[in-house]
Amino acid sequence: MPPAVIVDELPRLAEALVGLAAEEQARALSDRGLFAIALSGGSAGTLLLPSLARAGLDWLRTEVFWADERAVPPDHPESNYGMARRLLLEPAAVPVRQIHRVDGQLPDLERAAASYADELARTLGTPPRLDLALLGVGPDGHVASLFPGHPAVGETELWVRAVPDAPKPPPRRLTLTLPVLAASRRVVVFARGREKADAVRAALAEPTSGLPVALLARAASAVSFLLDADAASRL
Ligand code: 6PG
Repeated sequence: MPPAVIVDELPRLAEALVGLAAEEQARALSDRGLFAIALSGGSAGTLLLPSLARAGLDWLRTEVFWADERAVPPDHPESNYGMARRLLLEPAAVPVRQIHRVDGQLPDLERAAASYADELARTLGTPPRLDLALLGVGPDGHVASLFPGHPAVGETELWVRAVPDAPKPPPRRLTLTLPVLAASRRVVVFARGREKADAVRAALAEPTSGLPVALLARAASAVSFLLDADAASRL
């Protein structure tokens, strides 16, 4: 299915995300009795999670994962889990046993990646299939912690990769890989601001782009771009 593109102001984009989440949740609950969502950091978290918390979704049957995490303890200001806890998990009273945090504080990143792959398989089966992956995109075209030119982008076997050398601080990160993200029932990419316009253009209008966001947009079975006018300005 070609990408769906919504260009609007932030409140409407947040509403669109809530609509997509409700739709995917209804489908997932009727198909398999649980809804699995993956969250990210950055502005897709700070600007959209509060709306998701108020959306009236069925959190008692939702399993929450992360598309990527920074290698920091859960109470660190850079923790994607920490942000989600404040903006979504506590306000929406998501049951603790359904919160699948990445062990970002483990000193051994490879081990943390392997253990998160096990966690995905235990909850979602093999290969794991998310229902909704909520992602931001960097000005360089990265998604989750898959950065242009990094070997993790070409990963085809592992579901989770350690990234010890990310160009965006903090450099030590863990990320779901393209095959897992692309297998999500729906991928949502959120972008605001003119500095994202080139990456958005690569994803939506450059069929041979090798940027991670473009590779994902081509590989995903269903992807929605939620864009403000600046991010969409080069389409
Ligand atoms: C992270 C991310 C990362 C983020 C993009 C966009 O934890 O750093 O998950 O992929 O979504 O860098 O971030 P902004 O929307 O804040 O620019």
